Amino acid sequence: STRVVVLLSGTGSNLAALLAAHADPAYGARVVGVVSDKPDAGGLVLAREAGVATVVVRPGDFDDRAAWDAALAEAVGVFRPSLVVSAGFMRLLGAPFLARWGGRVINTHPALLPSFPGAHGVRDALAHGVKVTGCTVHLIDAGVDTGPIIAQRAVEVRDDDDEARLHERIKTVERELLVDVVGRVAREGLSVDGRRVRIGSGG
Ligand code: GAR
Repeated sequence: STRVVVLLSGTGSNLAALLAAHADPAYGARVVGVVSDKPDAGGLVLAREAGVATVVVRPGDFDDRAAWDAALAEAVGVFRPSLVVSAGFMRLLGAPFLARWGGRVINTHPALLPSFPGAHGVRDALAHGVKVTGCTVHLIDAGVDTGPIIAQRAVEVRDDDDEARLHERIKTVERELLVDVVGRVAREGLSVDGRRVRIGSGG
């Protein structure tokens, strides 16, 4: 099955959903490693409990951004993945990382891109007053949440929502979408035609 490395900085609820899915061999994808920029990320505990190897690559341990980026690329490479999933990884992946892994990295974002990119997608959507938001799974490119979109799901905003409550509802949908996309990409491949991405016949 397709070897997947998950990048994360936080709780890891998306990772948990992937770990639940990969228990079924028919899923087609297997999380073989988890890499984090934060030693205290909750997702690392979930990974270890599931017997998945973890690596922490802290920016503070490197002279500059490019060195960290190269170390991150190297740490991922140890697991020989064919797919890298950024699931709550709160740092940009720079040129040295993308030179090696570009085209094989997908990200999940808690808004309907291209609206509300960046670190506060839920807060920004709420502040803008949108009535519908959602989540996006996309390929990572050099920009901030600008890569070609693979799949999206909509979530309605309620009058009494605050950021935490709305984010929780988005995350419920988001992990389902991510599990679905990772499994289908693993089994069917991706075909990319400019910005138009579809799952299937991509090898
Ligand atoms: C997810 O909602 C993910 O989309 C978001 O962080 C959350 C991580 O949750 N990522 C971003 O906002 C990236 N800009 P998790 O740690 O429970 O999987």
